[in-house]
Amino acid sequence: MVAALRAKPGGEDIGVTIGDFATTKPDGMFSVAYLVFNTIMNLTTQAAQVACFRNVAAHLEPGGCFLIEVGVPSCSGSRPGRPSAPTT
Ligand SMILES: C[S@@+](CC[C@H](N)C(=O)[O-])C[C@H]1O[C@@H](n2cnc3c(N)ncnc32)[C@H](O)[C@@H]1O
Repeated sequence: MVAALRAKPGGEDIGVTIGDFATTKPDGMFSVAYLVFNTIMNLTTQAAQVACFRNVAAHLEPGGCFLIEVGVPSCSGSRPGRPSAPTT
């Protein structure tokens, strides 16, 4: 992925830090932290997700945003407090 980024115009100008996004400490502070396309779901424990939020908070400038893109399962066929209806 980094090689694909570097191959694009201006790609050499974008800083990259490689590591576990829950715990890796990039240099600097940022106005936006963005977890694309359900990436938060790769952290499968509450402790790991809390570590991620703490890590992001430690690297956001004042007024910065933590944006998490995540799909929400359809609720069709279910009622509040009940699991989804079987599909068969
Ligand atoms: C949904 S993909 C991101 C989409 C991809 N960046 C794109 O633009 O198409 C999630 C990525 O996070 C990586 N990943 C999972 N857990 C990680 C972790 N703890 N730290 C860093 N990367 C992780 C996965 O290997 C996967 O490549």
